[in-house]
Formats: sequence, structure tokens, C-alpha cells
Amino acid sequence: MKSIWMDTTMIPRRNSLTGNKRTEVVIIGAGMAGVLTAFYLQRHGVHVVILEANRIGSGQSGFTTAKITSQHNLIYQKLEKSVGKDHARLYGKANQLAVEEYGKLITRNSIQCHYEKKDAYLYSVQESKKLLKEAEIAKELGLPASFVQETNLPFSVCGAVRFTGQAQFNPLEFLKEISSGITIYERTKVIKVHGHDVITDRGVIKAEKIVFASHYPFVNIPGFYFAKMYQEKSYVLELDSVDDLGGMYLGVDKKAYSLRNYDGRLLLGYGSHRTGKVPDTDPFITMRHTAEHLFPKSKILRGWTAQDCMTLDGIPYIGTYSAFRPDWYVATGFGKWGMSSSMVAAKMLSLQITGKRTPYDSVFSPQRHHIKASALRAAEHGLESVKGLSAGIRPGVVNCPHLGCRMIWNQYDKRWECPCHGSGFEINGKICAGPAQRSLPFID
Ligand code: FES
Repeated sequence: MKSIWMDTTMIPRRNSLTGNKRTEVVIIGAGMAGVLTAFYLQRHGVHVVILEANRIGSGQSGFTTAKITSQHNLIYQKLEKSVGKDHARLYGKANQLAVEEYGKLITRNSIQCHYEKKDAYLYSVQESKKLLKEAEIAKELGLPASFVQETNLPFSVCGAVRFTGQAQFNPLEFLKEISSGITIYERTKVIKVHGHDVITDRGVIKAEKIVFASHYPFVNIPGFYFAKMYQEKSYVLELDSVDDLGGMYLGVDKKAYSLRNYDGRLLLGYGSHRTGKVPDTDPFITMRHTAEHLFPKSKILRGWTAQDCMTLDGIPYIGTYSAFRPDWYVATGFGKWGMSSSMVAAKMLSLQITGKRTPYDSVFSPQRHHIKASALRAAEHGLESVKGLSAGIRPGVVNCPHLGCRMIWNQYDKRWECPCHGSGFEINGKICAGPAQRSLPFID
């Protein structure tokens, strides 16, 4: 299943690693976070190498709807309550600066990537109370937020939170340009990381510092990311002949849609569920009905799924991998906000790796303990993992090569999925999403 970005953007191939090498920093993963981190590290004069198991941008960066925004659903009222006003302000500031940094980078380097400034809207067709609150809190935290009653959506809303000066682009066109001066070895799969040695199927790279930017970290101990992160799936339809809606939209109601235009088309996003908890009805059929109703003149061109890493408190993990591994770094758990979070991660990690601190370190630290913010999701995540593991010990079932949970068949996506941490496998068992690193036994 290819996304529109993958189908319309050709990024030149890179060689695979041959033999053993040394570098100052090795980054695992050539997605948006990995490439941007390398880009800023090189600007600081650091020698960097990226290792990519597949192709540049072939992971989740190729499946995003590519909204560049600091508007992350109703996050600011949640953060103010769970981690306090100061951390909520810093979270918002880091992301708003990230939005602005994309604009500067693209203009300064004349990057052709269908970059457009757009306002971002959170809408509801049911109630305005939460939106009013979000607009008020976000504005108080210094973000460009206001509450509005009118939008250009083809249905009426109770209200919307508007963030001005946000943006959208084609992420692979951007990655193609920004990665051009960086050493990247494609089709080079990291098998193991041992101290300062990154062991791949093509050779070993010795590095002073190592960055894990490959979506879900695959080293279980130390770090224990499997205990504090799960994955969610969502669905996108691409429609042609849809007039520009004058903004990027996200509904906050239970069964709401995400909408953004691209080059005369519309990307309609829907549904969000824990990977491995397959919905009763086919999300693509639901979306098709909605598309026919709202945009009767349009044609459906394609559909694809996206998969996002979710942290327990809703804040990404950016910083040192573990207190036991001070030379390892991680950027993960971006939720549905991979574009702004990738930039936040790149700016922070490039400073941390060169020995500097940032005002945001404690907010995004992977070692933080926001008990209040994490309690509910931690309990749910623990329960789902226990269910997956106890199902896995039944004889005759397919087990996940990551930590042994029982696999589930997703008939809509035609994939095996693990309900514990979200690993995914094609129908023949070939691995297509981590943290598992091996395919299911029936392919090998
Ligand atoms: Fe962790 Fe399957 S992804 S057990």
C-alpha cells in the first residue's frame, strides 16, 4: 500500500554499507527525525552516518498526512492539568518553533516540496466547550490560538480552535532535498547495538554516540520502551477534485475526520485504534461513505494506513536512551504529530550530542516520571500486554518474535498485528513494522 508521497516522489537510491567503519555519530533510521538530526549535527561540524534498513522515508514518514503544526488535538488542556503550566508552555513553544524552523529551512534552501502556510483547525460538530477551553489555554501559553465559529468545511460545526501560521508539505520531497548532503546507507539492517558498536547485516560501525530514530526502539533493555509505549493505527483516503478547504482540519469528536488538501486533492483521515485491536467495521468502507456524502463529485484514488507510537503521557521521548547508556539517544513516541516532533527532536538532540542543554530537556526526557499524566494509559497498556502475553502461551497460535504475544489478523489491512507493542507482518509473515526485528516463522 503506497501513499501519495511514495507514488509521486523519487528519492535517489543510496549504496548499502560495505565493511566496517568509524564515525562520531551513527543514526539508526532515515525518516524525518533521523535525517533532520543528521542535518543539524552536520551543521555543528559533527561527522554523521545514517543506517536505514529499507529506503529513505520508507517508514512512517512516508505515510503521514504531513501537517506541520503545534496544534496537537486537545493537548494543552490535558498537559496543563497533568504536567503543569510551565511544562505545557515549553511543549507548545518547542513545537511552535519547530513549525517556524521548517519555514525558514525551506525558504533559505529553496526546497521545492509543495510547502504551504495554512491555518490549523480543531473542530467539533457536537460541542464547543472543550474547544473554547483549548483556545483559551493555548493562547495563554503563548500559541497563535483563537476560537472561531465558521470554517470552510462542507458541514456545519459547533466551533473550532484556529492556530494561525501553521503549514503543510510533501514530506518525501522535503526529505529528498534535505538528505542530499548526508551519508546514508540504505538496505542496511541493524541487528544489534553493543556499547559503541552498531552491528548490521553488512558490517559494523563504531561510533562515539548512537541515535535511535527508527520509530519504535528495538533494544528492550535498558530503556524498557516496551513498557511505556504502544502503537495506534489510522486510515487515509486520497480523493481527487476537491476544492481547497482553506486550512488543515482535525475533528475532536469520537468518530471525526482529519482533512487537508494537496495539489487539487484531499487527504481524508479517519479512525484511530490500538494496533492489534481490529475494529468491527472496515474503516475504509466508513470513509468511502463519508467521502461520497461530503464530496459527491470526487473520486477515490487510493487509501493507506499510518501507524504511530504513543507514549503514556502524550509527550514524545527525546533524549538519552537510558541512564545506563549516556551515549545512546532516542527520538520516538511522536503520536500523530511526527512532523513538528521530528524537528523538535532534531534541534534538541543535535544540541545535547554536542554537549549543550536545552530548555526542553526535562519536558521530553525519556527518564521522566509523570505519574499523574501516565497512570491511566499505563494501566490500560499493562492490561493489553498481559492479555496479549497470556493468549500467546496457548499451543498452536502465532507468536510475536518481539516478546511473544499472540498475533492478530487485520482483515482490512491484510496484515498480522501484535496487540502488545504494534509489530506488523505481511500475509506471508515478512516483517513490516517493529519493534520486532524478525519475520514470523512461516516465511523463513
Ligand atoms: Fe512486542 Fe509483539 S510487538 S510482543
